[in-house]
Amino acid sequence: MTTRLTLARPDDWHLHLRDGATLESVVAASARDFHRCLIMPNLVPPVVTSTDAQAYKERILAAVARSGVDSDFTPMMTLYLTESTNPSDVVDAAATGLIQAVKLYPAGATTNSDSGVTSMDRVMPVLEAMAANDIVLCVHGEVTTPEVDIFDREARFIETVLHPLRQRLPELRVTLEHITTADGVQAVRDGDGQVAGSITPHHLMINRNHMLVGGIRPHYYCLPIVKREAHRQALVQAATSGEARFFLGTDSAPHARGAKESACGCAGVFNAPNTLSCVATVFEQAEALDKMEGFVSVHGARWYGHEVSDATITLERREDARSLDPCVALEQDDIQPFDPGVPLYWHVV
Ligand code: DOR
Ligand code: ZN
Repeated sequence: MTTRLTLARPDDWHLHLRDGATLESVVAASARDFHRCLIMPNLVPPVVTSTDAQAYKERILAAVARSGVDSDFTPMMTLYLTESTNPSDVVDAAATGLIQAVKLYPAGATTNSDSGVTSMDRVMPVLEAMAANDIVLCVHGEVTTPEVDIFDREARFIETVLHPLRQRLPELRVTLEHITTADGVQAVRDGDGQVAGSITPHHLMINRNHMLVGGIRPHYYCLPIVKREAHRQALVQAATSGEARFFLGTDSAPHARGAKESACGCAGVFNAPNTLSCVATVFEQAEALDKMEGFVSVHGARWYGHEVSDATITLERREDARSLDPCVALEQDDIQPFDPGVPLYWHVV
């Protein structure tokens, strides 16, 4: 049995770090284990221009420096696509290396998505400029039409938004972020190498029964919502397959406990403290530990045009399971890390 794994230092290709006091509280968990993290722009107000992205990047780096974690942590910035985004601002920000991608939130799809896109036609000039300059579009792939059932929103997005977009702009590279269904897996495989899929630790570990049977567990509520078991299995199969277009994006999304344990709770799972232990558990169970490095350290870096990290991280399988991660204190509240509901024997050394 493998009990020790040394991997190129992993990257997280989808992370919410927030801002201000929350940023200060959560950044260490990611900086400890990851080299590059793709930072989501859904702040209030969102990160829309290159000026916003530059300022946010500086706030993140200052918070890392204050956190006391000594690492090569590198925030990779994204811009939040709005219907007034200026194509040349995007192209310039990518050319200087300030931004790595542009994020499409369908308006109303999730936390702080009010400034998102209501119609793809309205952002076509930006998307055309991105295709021409090989800038990746990251998408939150869910329709927001009220008639569409929440469990069908990803599949419907693929059919009604992603496929038409791909026909219109086949050169545009698209990351279908945090895929949650077999349909998402298929869309990546059908993408002629131009579509990648990021997958979260929680979607690899829990299904909708875990969230809803025997009581409602608000800390498992996230968007896109966790689906039925067959979809979880399709995600595990994709992640552990070794295919280059699937990689880790944690979607670690901290919310104060009071905002989660509420009559109308927020979406988001804060998994940054134990991501690698969770992923190793999934890969071990699938007898695919030899494929883990590809998923966490190689495929995403190549997709975004970077060298694989030459630093390493080591995980060790111990007899004693990791204790549950402590809650992260906020001034008036705290944040509960992801509890996968199974023991985690893999520890980051
Ligand atoms: O669960 C989620 N939380 N999904 C998202 O798309 C956004 C995120 C957040 O920002 O809280
Ligand atoms: Zn997210």
